[in-house]
Amino acid sequence: MTSPDLVGPHIETLKPYVPGKPIEELRRELGLDDIIKLASNENPLGPSPKAVEAIEQKLSGLHIYPDGAAHDMVQAVSDYHEVPREEVITGNGSDEILTMAVRTFCEYGRDSAVISKYSFAAYGIRCQSHNLDVRWVPMDEGLKFDLDAMAEAIDETTKIVFIANPNNPTGTYVSGEALRGFLQEIPDRVVVLVDEAYHQYVEAEDYESAVEMRDVHERLIVTRTLSKCYGLAGARAGYGLSTPELIGCMNKVREPFNCNAVAQVALPAALSDEEFVDRSVEVNREGRRALEAGLKTLGTLGVEWVPSQTNFLLVKMPVEGRRVFDAMLHKGVIVRPMAGYGLDKWLRISLAEEEKMQRCVGALKDVLETLTSEVKL
Ligand SMILES: Cc1ncc(COP(=O)(O)O)c(C=O)c1O
Repeated sequence: MTSPDLVGPHIETLKPYVPGKPIEELRRELGLDDIIKLASNENPLGPSPKAVEAIEQKLSGLHIYPDGAAHDMVQAVSDYHEVPREEVITGNGSDEILTMAVRTFCEYGRDSAVISKYSFAAYGIRCQSHNLDVRWVPMDEGLKFDLDAMAEAIDETTKIVFIANPNNPTGTYVSGEALRGFLQEIPDRVVVLVDEAYHQYVEAEDYESAVEMRDVHERLIVTRTLSKCYGLAGARAGYGLSTPELIGCMNKVREPFNCNAVAQVALPAALSDEEFVDRSVEVNREGRRALEAGLKTLGTLGVEWVPSQTNFLLVKMPVEGRRVFDAMLHKGVIVRPMAGYGLDKWLRISLAEEEKMQRCVGALKDVLETLTSEVKL
């Protein structure tokens, strides 16, 4: 219990973000050598080789502060999307763009935010730490965003709405038509942040990036990350696109050296590495096929999953997900328990090469056979 005069109730009740378990931690705890991590939606191929080359060349210059304006990073995004530089902001991961959006546009302790339940945990944490009133909107029965309910939850206090498309942790998506309709309905006053961290993995034909919808709602921010398809989660690089007005405001709040020197060379190189993106998407598609095929064989054990447009699957267990997670650790397979989201029976499993998916399914099968026979006893 924290001293009563130290923090406000919004900080006292804040549940911190729990990242995926690191491989090194499991190695220390259980002394295992052969570990696979399928917990943080990282790229199984490693980082973009072009980015690695650029980073290596930068290393001897790390005694110099990075460019505070992140000129080359902003330029690379501006070229990539064919938008003016004034419509781009870069960040220490796309997470930082979410944080800046909340700090910039929402008045501390006064405004409200609309967030879907089972959407990316960082949204709620950022809003609660800014002492906003968060309106949690339930998803529909397919674990998809209920856009009508989200629009209805908006009132005159609402300043920001978050949509992850496709969404983490459900893997579900909103069609282009539905998103356009939603954006048209939202009052002009409200900032809509569409987070496209996983957009490269989408296969659904009716999906459309919100980058193409910037004329539909003026206060729209679209975020992208280099952490997934470009394999740069450790370098921390992400960006946001919006109007010069919104970007200008966020730049006032942005910390002076928010993008480190490594990220500043990695992002331009990675964005040009189309071959790596294509390969990442292909490996992901094969991984999804392999994991789904494996999970089908576990149907009799009561395993179900949500169709995914991302680089992970949300999988329902016949028992508490946490117990399955713990038992799988002993087999050297790290997945992600979802109890923190209120999804007690679910695990999130990141997609990877076929062999890793088969190893994961094998471990899951052994664990479930043991746990479900204990239930019957
Ligand atoms: C939906 C979503 N948005 C944003 C992020 C954060 O990405 P970054 O590494 O760019 O901060 C994640 C990371 O898992 C995510 O799932």
